[in-house]
Amino acid sequence: MGRLDQKTILISAAAQGIGRAAAIAFAKEGAKVIATDINEEKLKELAQYPGIETRVLDVTDKNQIELLAKEFGNIDVLCNIAGFVHHGSILDCTENDWDFTMNVNVRSMYMMIRTFLPKMLERKSGNIINMSSVASSIKGVVNRCVYSTSKAAVIGLTKSVAADFIEQGIRCNCICPGTVDTPSLRERIQAMPNPEQALNGFLARQRMNRFCTAEEVAHLCVFLASDEAAFITGSEYVIDGGWSL
Ligand SMILES: NC(=O)c1ccc[n+]([C@@H]2O[C@H](COP(=O)([O-])OP(=O)(O)OC[C@H]3O[C@@H](n4cnc5c(N)ncnc54)[C@H](O)[C@@H]3O)[C@@H](O)[C@H]2O)c1
Repeated sequence: MGRLDQKTILISAAAQGIGRAAAIAFAKEGAKVIATDINEEKLKELAQYPGIETRVLDVTDKNQIELLAKEFGNIDVLCNIAGFVHHGSILDCTENDWDFTMNVNVRSMYMMIRTFLPKMLERKSGNIINMSSVASSIKGVVNRCVYSTSKAAVIGLTKSVAADFIEQGIRCNCICPGTVDTPSLRERIQAMPNPEQALNGFLARQRMNRFCTAEEVAHLCVFLASDEAAFITGSEYVIDGGWSL
């Protein structure tokens, strides 16, 4: 018996990092997983896992979202993972950077929820998990201006959806990780003028002397997707090894 038997879960940004780990963890617990990403090549690697079906999806594209909803109307869990990290303060953030980040990190979740929620309401049952960050309303982090703004908005969106639809059987929670060892983190470190110094800088702020793993965030996703979390809604789950303490 898996903890997610009989559940259909749609997940975005599943080709790498946290999304990939969560898609695999969901499938291991018995869920039918529709794993989506904009990166078709990397997404193909997931097809080898029993229980995972893949579809290309750009979460900023309303038409693609609507087409996917036509194909998979009845999903039990919507897991919105896609997000982009812009590096810089408000003075480094151009209007394009601002719009791009808010589009990928927030507007995409608005469109995904708006598209998939009506069918959940018809069935009087639905569960939404949004990926936020401790860099948000939880903690001020240097050089994360628009990123933190967008992730604070994800917390607000989560609480709002939870409050509006609690009586109709909908749960909505979000996850706020600290620094997670994912391909994009490694790319960001490599892009710094001195990658070794940058890596040490990231590590120095880890109170447990290590990064969070994508699998550790995936465990939390499994819990929130399962009926073990049936009484939990509107919550933001911090998983940051004590960084925000
Ligand atoms: N890595 C961290 O330290 C960390 C910390 C806190 C929160 N987060 C959040 O977790 C989520 C995943 O981060 P990660 O580091 O695991 O991922 P990542 O950056 O390693 O991978 C992101 C994935 O998103 C996909 N993607 C990008 N744009 C897309 C789009 N428009 N539509 C669909 N897919 C798209 C990419 O192809 C890629 O597979 C993000 O929302 C991120 O902000 C990450």
